[in-house]
Amino acid sequence: MRFYSAVIRPVLFLFSPEVAHKITFFLLRAFGVLLPIFIKRRRRVEPVELFGLTFPHRVGLAAGLDKEGHAYNALSKLGFAFVEVGTVTPRGQAGNSKPRLFRLTKDQGLINRMGFNNAGVEQLAGKLRKIKPDTLIGGNIGKNTTTPNEAAVGDYLHCFEKLYNLVDYFVVNVSCPNISDLRELQDKDNLSTILAALIEYRKHQGLSKPILLKVSPDLNENQLDDLIGVVKAQRLDGLVATNTTISRQGLTTDTKIVEQIGKGGLSGRPLNRRSTEVIRHLRKQLGPEFPIIASGGIMTAEDAEEKITAGADLVQLYTGFIYRGPGLINEILQKLG
Ligand code: FNR
Repeated sequence: MRFYSAVIRPVLFLFSPEVAHKITFFLLRAFGVLLPIFIKRRRRVEPVELFGLTFPHRVGLAAGLDKEGHAYNALSKLGFAFVEVGTVTPRGQAGNSKPRLFRLTKDQGLINRMGFNNAGVEQLAGKLRKIKPDTLIGGNIGKNTTTPNEAAVGDYLHCFEKLYNLVDYFVVNVSCPNISDLRELQDKDNLSTILAALIEYRKHQGLSKPILLKVSPDLNENQLDDLIGVVKAQRLDGLVATNTTISRQGLTTDTKIVEQIGKGGLSGRPLNRRSTEVIRHLRKQLGPEFPIIASGGIMTAEDAEEKITAGADLVQLYTGFIYRGPGLINEILQKLG
């Protein structure tokens, strides 16, 4: 952990966030097999049973870091118990113009408007077929930017079918703030149409793969309750709470800098509190058994513990992993005991 904060992060932070990401992935792909020599073996922890899967422990990698499935086995060697690949779309797309990823170092946050840049579901499926995952894989699915919302169901279904036999669970992403109008798909009718199509397809498969929905932290209580209604009606298998926020509240970074950055989803420390509130609400409304994965501002072991106390079964890291490195995984596992 100290080595990451003292050496690796300062070097990576010399580069723009996207270049730093490229360097990290290059190194992970080139030297991933050597990682077990350097990574301290984590302490023994109890596995967790959730929606029919056995997770070796509670800490996974959130969607968006390994969108195209370039390094899931190396990321697993770093210590993650599960890796969510994607968001993937039917056709490859470039995403928004650069720069589109910004560090708010003072706030331990990131703002991104990547816009579902990815090589398309065929490419991801090819990777998963060729390199057998040695970890549990979540498949996070979305729609192409050019697909209108009325036709979105076709995109989600396409990705679902292509990945059905290749991932362990699915996450339907209708909560990304960086695709115009995407979040309208969280409305009751739109959401029901998409989920019903996936569930209908699943009915005819030998194995029933869990379907989860990723929730926006920007929904108000009424909107969350509507969403919970759909989740119950469709008997969804779980939720991931939450995605990034469009809110800029509580930042200590200079307002001018934040304004200059412009649109995008905020993640990391500033998202923590709202994300936990959403989890607490979901747990209250959905009862003790319903599977919830926490994502949003987990920067320390205490943050992870707070998410579990608020009602999460598992946690996922993204921004915390960028700022704290893989040592954060062990730190969390030690805290959770
Ligand atoms: C994301 N996130 C994300 N989520 C998702 O469902 N699909 C995606 O493609 C992406 N892409 C993405 C890119 C970048 C650069 C960031 C920072 C984030 C959201 C991510 O999975 C996570 O839910 C949020 O970032 C909140 O968690 P953290 O970062 O605060 O731990």
